Amino acid sequence: MRSWTATSRGTPRQALILLSTAPIPSLPAGDFSSSFVLIKITHVSLNPADLATLKLLPPWLPFRRAPVPGLDFAGEVVALGGRSSEKDGDEVGSLRVGDRVCGAVGLREVAAGRGTLAEYVLLDQGLVVRVPAGWDPREAVGVLGIAGQTASVMVKGFLRDGGGADELEGGALKGRRVLVNGASGGVGTLLVQICKGLGAEVVGICSGANEELVKRLGADEVVDYRAHDPLEGHLAAKFGSQPFDAIFDCTGNETLYSCSPGYLKPEGKFTTIVGGWSQGVIPYIKYKLRPVLLGGTPRNYHLFLLSASGTIAREVASLVERGLIKEAIIDSEFSMEQTVEAFEKLATGRAKGKIVVNVNSY
Ligand SMILES: NC(=O)c1ccc[n+]([C@@H]2O[C@H](COP(=O)([O-])OP(=O)(O)OC[C@H]3O[C@@H](n4cnc5c(N)ncnc54)[C@H](OP(=O)(O)O)[C@@H]3O)[C@@H](O)[C@H]2O)c1
Repeated sequence: MRSWTATSRGTPRQALILLSTAPIPSLPAGDFSSSFVLIKITHVSLNPADLATLKLLPPWLPFRRAPVPGLDFAGEVVALGGRSSEKDGDEVGSLRVGDRVCGAVGLREVAAGRGTLAEYVLLDQGLVVRVPAGWDPREAVGVLGIAGQTASVMVKGFLRDGGGADELEGGALKGRRVLVNGASGGVGTLLVQICKGLGAEVVGICSGANEELVKRLGADEVVDYRAHDPLEGHLAAKFGSQPFDAIFDCTGNETLYSCSPGYLKPEGKFTTIVGGWSQGVIPYIKYKLRPVLLGGTPRNYHLFLLSASGTIAREVASLVERGLIKEAIIDSEFSMEQTVEAFEKLATGRAKGKIVVNVNSY
């Protein structure tokens, strides 16, 4: 089969080659109780974490021979073992050959070299969810992958810390004001839809070029981060009298947090998904452990790191089925051969929604 493989650390252009001779993985022979499923991949969507793993993880580690990158997947079930895993929801265990499925593998699988940028992958059935009715795999891959799973768990975390149930039910955010920073990206476009769908008043931060898109997805108001310097002064002037209950940061803007008392309620919560070069250690010490008396910001700070799972993918599928996520925003689609170009577009940090690789196109 064809698969992208890392031969060194570095940028995708330095690190990756497209092999056409990799063996197709197979179910463990004679093991009829296996919980594995073999998937013929049709689409993969790219995530900034793919670039980070290529840069950080050397391919010569003994447990990662010919490592394949890629987290998100959509494809078709071509073979499966007889037993579902212990992490099953009601859907797993009822998978059939021919089902169209999607989801994301975890960073652990990618660290072990078992990513999704290949024509076939062998996965635990617990990671796999059916493509929601009415959606095609190209749309589902970005929404039920890392981006959608991250957005849904960020919102759940806010609801849970607010003392309420963490169910993503209609009206759960009614009366709440939410600020989404990076509203036009893979995660942001889904956060805006979920928060709006749950009844929040949503303000999105994006560049002027993406204002129309972010409003279409449900933002009541948009702030163009390029038109205001400093952005935080503008937010304080505009929203100081009606501060936010939650700020979801998808760009790693630390000043947005340190200035947040100007526009975030005292009991409000700031959640970021970007830990920076220290993978979150420095921001955690600076913002979580530093007391207010020593100059810490008097607002709740949370750095969230996703652990992808089929359970979360099923929750995202339910958001799609209930119309809380209405649209998959696809920035662009590339062929398997153009994967390096697709990564280079992702690395610009300017994608609107998701960049998709069509694995079967030649
Ligand atoms: N912790 C976790 O578990 C987790 C999970 C998923 C993602 N992440 C991280 O979260 C970040 C976002 O991921 P993503 O997939 O959404 O990335 P993405 O799709 O590549 O984000 C690109 C978007 O960000 C916008 N943007 C860039 N700079 C901005 C700024 N200063 N202010 C506002 N918007 C800005 C761009 O809009 P313009 O072109 O208009 O600027 C573009 O639409 C990445 O760093 C990723 O590694 C973490």
